[in-house]
Amino acid sequence: MTTVIDVENISKQFKIHHERNQSLKERLLHPKSGSTEIFNALSDISFQVSANETVGILGHNGSGKSTLLKCICGVLQPTTGQIRLRGSLAALLELGAGFQTELSGRDNVYLYGAMLGLSKRNVDAIFDDIVAFSEIEQFIDTQVKFYSSGMYVRLAFAVAVNVDPDILVVDEVLAVGDERFQAKCIDRIRTFQEEGRSILLVTHQADQVRALCDRAIVLDGGLMVANGPVQESLRIFREHLLEDAVELDRTGARAEISIDSVTTPSGSFDVKSGAGIHFDVQMTSHAAYSGNFMMEIFTRGGLLVSRSDAQGSPVNLKPGLNSVGVYLPQIPLLDGVYDVNVGIVDHHGTVMAWREQAASIQVAYSGREGGIVEMGASITQQ
Ligand SMILES: Nc1ncnc2c1ncn2[C@@H]1O[C@H](COP(=O)(O)OP(=O)(O)OP(=O)(O)O)[C@@H](O)[C@H]1O
Ligand SMILES: [Mg+2]
Repeated sequence: MTTVIDVENISKQFKIHHERNQSLKERLLHPKSGSTEIFNALSDISFQVSANETVGILGHNGSGKSTLLKCICGVLQPTTGQIRLRGSLAALLELGAGFQTELSGRDNVYLYGAMLGLSKRNVDAIFDDIVAFSEIEQFIDTQVKFYSSGMYVRLAFAVAVNVDPDILVVDEVLAVGDERFQAKCIDRIRTFQEEGRSILLVTHQADQVRALCDRAIVLDGGLMVANGPVQESLRIFREHLLEDAVELDRTGARAEISIDSVTTPSGSFDVKSGAGIHFDVQMTSHAAYSGNFMMEIFTRGGLLVSRSDAQGSPVNLKPGLNSVGVYLPQIPLLDGVYDVNVGIVDHHGTVMAWREQAASIQVAYSGREGGIVEMGASITQQ
């Protein structure tokens, strides 16, 4: 496999200048006073992306995702380390990066094209496609500073996907567009994948990572804490989120709950399609806690089959061991292995405890329908 992005021991430090409380006069007399602190936004990050690979980047706010993408795109210079790229790269960075807000949408399209090495004639040839994709034709001659964030993203995405890059880098912004435009972007990303291009995608949406990525990287405080299969990285990502929740717990704000095991009375998770299954989820809580039980079921291919209502199943945990019973009366799924994630969320939907792939249900189906659910259609000729 050809490596198209090679990130080798990247670190990025920012100097943060703290001004002492000074009067204007003091500042004018001693302009260099105050202290400077070095902040490590990225510490010794190494990974590769191959041709035809889509890699997700996860991490909470401030973990270094955008800084990493900016280093890869050349917007920022890493403090140490090296980045090698093979092929052309188009980027959709966070809002505010990329466009000159005083210029019109049209001028920005040409400017961006020029930055990617396209001639005016090259851009002329794709201009109509860009505007058509963005669906903001009416505003193409308006200064970008008057764009809504949705309009901004529409144009930026339209440019990035129409300049024919070998590598597409997308920072989160997709979440800004409305649902229909998001779906259109995702479709376009899939076409990119089919064409064998490489994609680096920052997102906070676990579903998007499952649906689109071959692999995921997790950043935490500027360190790379995972780089592997999507399921595994999601588990680590959630665990890191939980560590933060536990930190909060020391200040008394949150409870600490662990999900210990998921079992069935027979010990087996094999079930016939159409039949029911019962399982128990054992967990330990260090304090009394009222929250909601939550469950997700995925195909092995990472497709979400079902997610329970986050506020629909209240549970009152007592200190110590607890057991929650789950009954699925009639599994309408066809042949296959289905992974079950379980967790406890608070009343705002924040995850308090989570276990990825806590159980795997093996469904046996003897009928002839294809796909993942049995519809049991009956056909009558009129
Ligand atoms: N130019 C800068 N000067 C100083 N600090 C910076 C600069 N840019 C980023 N940082 C800091 O680096 C850290 C990482 O920021 P970054 O934008 O990469 O996070 P992120 O993972 O993209 O977060 P988010 O999910 O909120 O987009 C943050 O603590 C941020 O304050
Ligand atoms: Mg960011």
